[in-house]
Formats: sequence, C-alpha cells, structure tokens
Amino acid sequence: MRRRLAAGNWKMNMTPTQGAAFIKEIAPLVAGAEAEVLFCVPAIDIPAAVEAAKGTNIEIGAENFYYEAKGAYTGEISLDMIKDTGVEYVLMGHSERRQIFGECDEMINKKLLAALAAQMKPILCCGESLEIREAGDTLTWIEGQIRSAFTGVTADEVKKTVIAYEPIWAIGTGKTATTGQAQEVCGMIRELVAKLYDAGTAEAVRILYGGSVNPENAAELFAQPDIDGGLVGGASLKLTFEKIVKA
Ligand code: 13P
Repeated sequence: MRRRLAAGNWKMNMTPTQGAAFIKEIAPLVAGAEAEVLFCVPAIDIPAAVEAAKGTNIEIGAENFYYEAKGAYTGEISLDMIKDTGVEYVLMGHSERRQIFGECDEMINKKLLAALAAQMKPILCCGESLEIREAGDTLTWIEGQIRSAFTGVTADEVKKTVIAYEPIWAIGTGKTATTGQAQEVCGMIRELVAKLYDAGTAEAVRILYGGSVNPENAAELFAQPDIDGGLVGGASLKLTFEKIVKA
C-alpha cells in the first residue's frame, strides 16, 4: 500500500520566524494524521522549521538545491548542506523553476540523480502549459518530461521517488484540474512507469496532484485511484491545510 502524502510547498513565503510559529500552530491539528505530512520550505527557513517540527509528525523538505557537491556556485545550496539539517525530501522540476529560472530537463535529471545518490527523497514535478493542453499534447508532453527525468534511474530508485503532476494552468490560478483530468494524467504516469520499469515499481511509486488544491476539492482529488496525495502551494500557508491532510 502506498502511504498518502500531504505536501506543502511554501514557495517564497514565510520568514524563518513566521514559518516556525506556523509549524508550532499547525502541529497539534495534524498530530496522528494517517497521511505523511510535509512542508517544503525556503532554504533559509529550514533550520527553524526543523527545530519547530521536532517531536511532531511533520517533516520538513527543501524547495531547491544545486546538484553539484560543492564549489564556486554563488547563491546555491548543496544536498550535503540540506542533509546536515536533517531534511530528507527535496523538490525538483517545479514549473516555476523551469519557467522563471530556466531549469531544463537535463538539469532536472541531474538533480534527481544527485538526490537519489545522496539518499534523499526526491519529489519530481511535471506538468503542461495551457497551450500544450489545448493542443491535445498533454500526455506526450508529460511522458517526455518523465522519460527525461528518469534517464539513468533504476527501478528501486523510482520507488523512492515521489512524482507530482502539476498542470501549470492550475497553479495559483484557483483553476483546479477536474478530478477526471488529474486522474487521467496520474494514471498515464503510472502506466508509463510500468512500461519503463515493471508493474511492481508502478504500483509502489507515489503520484501527487498539485494545482489549486484546497480544503474543498482535496477529498475528491485524493479519492482517485492513481492520486496518492497533493503538493499544495497557497493552501499550505494556512491552518486549514489540516483539512487537506485529513482528506
Ligand atoms: P497552488 O496550490 O498555490 O496552486 O500551487 C501549487 C504548486 O505549485 C505546488 O507546488
């Protein structure tokens, strides 16, 4: 059985002080939840968030890192630096990193390989633009992103990876994919993993939906057979994230 995952992505929100206070406030609300509870936070918030989450069922993840081990990469942080704080989960392939910061498929593959080599738990994001969806090319596009990201990745490593399907047109827009649209793509991703690897790997890999998930639509989305939880932006900054965790 795949354990459900309710993951927040704070993006560029919350100072270390605000983040720690929020974790302390939400911790009793999500204590004992069936789902795994995770907040991916800005790098500078990590130590304070980890400290605030001590003794709770909340895990802290990193929103970003660079795949090289160390060296002259001004402004970047390495997996060793993140690991040293006790964090295991790291995001890669988010559409905001792809679109705003120019991260390409090749770089995302390098990030995934580096995270796996460092024994971290990667969350690999994929998703199509509105243009691609309207052209009817969604499934081909997502397949391309997944094939590229998984280049050189073994079946055992895929099992340790979480895939997040986030249609770009649904991110921060209040426009959620319908449950049918979300399930169609998540189901196709699982079939693709079965084709690229094997049925056991496909059965084990967790696939999340992200894009305007909120306390009202979460339960229906998470009831879909191939959706194992959510990657939540805006709604993870509020205490009502509790309702998403419980959904
Ligand atoms: P929203 O939930 O704010 O639409 O953001 C989704 C997202 O990008 C999570 O990574």
